[in-house]
Amino acid sequence: MDLDLNSLAFWFPKLADAGLRVPRTEIVTTNVELVELLDGNKPAGFDAFVSELETAAATIGFPCFLRTGHGSGKHEWQDTCYVATRAEVVPHLVALVDWSHSVDLWGLPTDVWAVRELIATQPLFHAFNGMPITREVRLFVRDEAVEHVQGYWPEDAINGADQADWRERLAAAQTFDAPTLAEVRDIACRAVAAVGGGYWSVDCLEGEAGQWWLTDMALGERSFRYGD
Ligand SMILES: Nc1ncnc2c1ncn2[C@@H]1O[C@H](COP(=O)(O)OP(=O)(O)OP(=O)(O)O)[C@@H](O)[C@H]1O
Ligand SMILES: [Mg+2]
Repeated sequence: MDLDLNSLAFWFPKLADAGLRVPRTEIVTTNVELVELLDGNKPAGFDAFVSELETAAATIGFPCFLRTGHGSGKHEWQDTCYVATRAEVVPHLVALVDWSHSVDLWGLPTDVWAVRELIATQPLFHAFNGMPITREVRLFVRDEAVEHVQGYWPEDAINGADQADWRERLAAAQTFDAPTLAEVRDIACRAVAAVGGGYWSVDCLEGEAGQWWLTDMALGERSFRYGD
């Protein structure tokens, strides 16, 4: 397969090596035909893969964050990326395979898996399937220049918020003062330099103590951009 720039397996090691603040992450790759799970079958090599993933999760510690190289199924939070216990690893991986084959015409690849440290946050409110909505920002960088900065969550992307005043909370959290902007711009530029330049989106999430974490990046052309 061609080098898959959009996969966490490509960009994460480079970000970690560059000393950026990233969640501890264990990567597990597999060539097991996971799509067979969707027909109710157990593919060859499945047990060995599960045991590798469970070991990775135990290394990170529960609760942990589970995703593929290409995505997390975040809207289904409690059934996909948020893994509270070892017993949840298998059902959540099945849900992520299902999600990966439902979001894209040809299906997103499921050959790369990442178990990540769950970053402690101060959720603004919860939405979707119990997903904590937190303060996040997405930056678009082309080589050394920040082209665009947007709050991670456009208001119309939120469904099922559990607080009446969620719009105000979101608007306040997604207003960024000058020092914050300087900090996240610096993170995003260092990230794009670390992967060798190009046009990228870089997502940063604010941790509980106000520190910014680099959680995700993707090719700019494939990333949702709004508000220009
Ligand atoms: N390690 C983590 N700890 C806590 N929350 C996280 C962590 N990683 C991601 N999240 C939350 O889950 C969301 C989705 O994670 P991530 O960006 O990895 O998945 P994705 O499916 O690639 O998302 P996107 O659609 O933005 O590309 C993040 O925006 C953030 O709110
Ligand atoms: Mg992503």
